[in-house]
Amino acid sequence: MQRPSNRSYSLRGNRMTRAQTLAINQHWASYGLVIDEELNLNDLFPDKKLVILEIGSGMGEATAEIAQVSGEVGYVAVEMHQPGLAALILLILEKQLSNIKLIREDATYLLANFIADNSIDGIHLLFPDPWPKNRQHKKRMVQSEFVELVARKLKPNGFIHIATDWQPYANWIKSRFDANSSFSGGIVARPSWRVLSKFEGQGLKKGHSVTDYRYIKN
Ligand SMILES: C[S@@+](CC[C@H](N)C(=O)[O-])C[C@H]1O[C@@H](n2cnc3c(N)ncnc32)[C@H](O)[C@@H]1O
Repeated sequence: MQRPSNRSYSLRGNRMTRAQTLAINQHWASYGLVIDEELNLNDLFPDKKLVILEIGSGMGEATAEIAQVSGEVGYVAVEMHQPGLAALILLILEKQLSNIKLIREDATYLLANFIADNSIDGIHLLFPDPWPKNRQHKKRMVQSEFVELVARKLKPNGFIHIATDWQPYANWIKSRFDANSSFSGGIVARPSWRVLSKFEGQGLKKGHSVTDYRYIKN
């Protein structure tokens, strides 16, 4: 599979602060992964029972906080936005975390080409870009094809947890998962591990309500 032509991320500025540039230059080799062959996420953290793929870690504040309180879990953050990855490296250093690895890639392309089928314990997709306008809907990450891809890549009983503050996207997500017989699940209460991210805070300020979904692969 090629990288999707309907990108689910915006090509917003890749300008980095001096600290972010230094973080990438000095520490990418320790935390970043360059993927050129099939990858088993569990092999990255041999001492962890559970490894979560976090799709679209943004500026990494939530990722770092979640990883800090769940030291027994390994996290692989996949994000296209270079300053966000750099910001996450700075948080990893500040909090002295040893359970996060980073990948700069389109998550759909990564899943389709480099992750073995039936190999992922769990996926977090927290506040994916809602692409609210009708003409942008094709850019939404959650499409029927994405749901099929996730079904292929999760282990049996593996899960995907999705949170969104955009109600029309919540409905869209539900209808795509409901249409796929590989999954059971649906709306769940906000889990205690899901800390408030900047994106969520912005949504709440605008009066949005947040929906959490948890789907389990049958
Ligand atoms: C709205 S932000 C949410 C960030 C974070 N999860 C949070 O809750 O603060 C969505 C993020 O997903 C990233 N993203 C969108 N499509 C992606 C893709 N195909 N692969 C990797 N990252 C992607 C964007 O670059 C953006 O940083």
